[in-house]
Amino acid sequence: MTPYVADPVYLNGQFLPLAEAGVSPLDRGFLYGDGVYEVIPVYSRQAFRIDEHLKRLQATLDGIKLANPLTVDAWKSVIFKLIESAPWEDQSIYLQVTRGADDKRDHAFPPSSVTPTAFAFASPLVTTPAEVRAKGVAAITVPDLRWSRCDLKVISLLANVLARQQAVEQGCAEALLIRDGFMKEGAASNIFIVKDGVLLAPPKTQLMLPGITYDVVLELAQSHGQPLEIREISETELRSADEVWMTSSTKEILAITCLDGQAVGNGEHAGKPGPFGEQMWQWYQDFKNSVMRKG
Ligand code: PDD
Repeated sequence: MTPYVADPVYLNGQFLPLAEAGVSPLDRGFLYGDGVYEVIPVYSRQAFRIDEHLKRLQATLDGIKLANPLTVDAWKSVIFKLIESAPWEDQSIYLQVTRGADDKRDHAFPPSSVTPTAFAFASPLVTTPAEVRAKGVAAITVPDLRWSRCDLKVISLLANVLARQQAVEQGCAEALLIRDGFMKEGAASNIFIVKDGVLLAPPKTQLMLPGITYDVVLELAQSHGQPLEIREISETELRSADEVWMTSSTKEILAITCLDGQAVGNGEHAGKPGPFGEQMWQWYQDFKNSVMRKG
């Protein structure tokens, strides 16, 4: 069976087998969910948009007032070593930094003598099978119960976990989060809609994670002259969209063809992936192959 985590993993300056990697039960990641993370896709052993992911990691660390334990170059050498040691060509690199382990439990930050915990590992990139992509996936809508700094990629993901689980229990792949009548994003993805040939994307605010894939999709739409509007999407607009897509580093671009039990879209494309999503998926593949799979 393919292992999910490659050996070695990285923990606090060392590369060691997963079975030997241990963290204190007093780690603030464990006690408080006090930490940050990143997920970086790797194609043909090349990390996709690594600078952007490390920039977002830094923005999140700044947002929670935690000093980055590694420089950008040090992170890159950790990531390159994990990629090189793992058996797969296409991978997903997970990075996590927590505020470390003090010798007691106290909500306020620990003294500066407490060092952050830095952990990273490689796993195989699990892509969506072609037959699933061809049909699209089902999603539900749920109230967005998260806090007000959803732009930070923090490990405290309980509201996201509960939303995704609710989707899974209803046989769906994703939960779309509705706050004050507007659709913000998915439990672990950004969401785009298409209406009358125009691609609509919610703006980057503190209530949405600024996705790296989201940026690539917007760049591709712009460079191909695809009509595009970046603005809030109401729940009503979501329900009357011609197409709905989810995007993330691991899912890339995936059509949502059924929402709360109703087919997405009208006419011949109702309940099926639409032409704009198919086009965007192709542009994404071409772009990825041109930058990652050279030579
Ligand atoms: N999640 N929004 C949320 C809430 C997410 O958790 C993610 C990604 C995204 C998409 O971001 P990106 O395109 O940078 O992957 C949007 C990752 C994959 C995860 O938690 O595993």
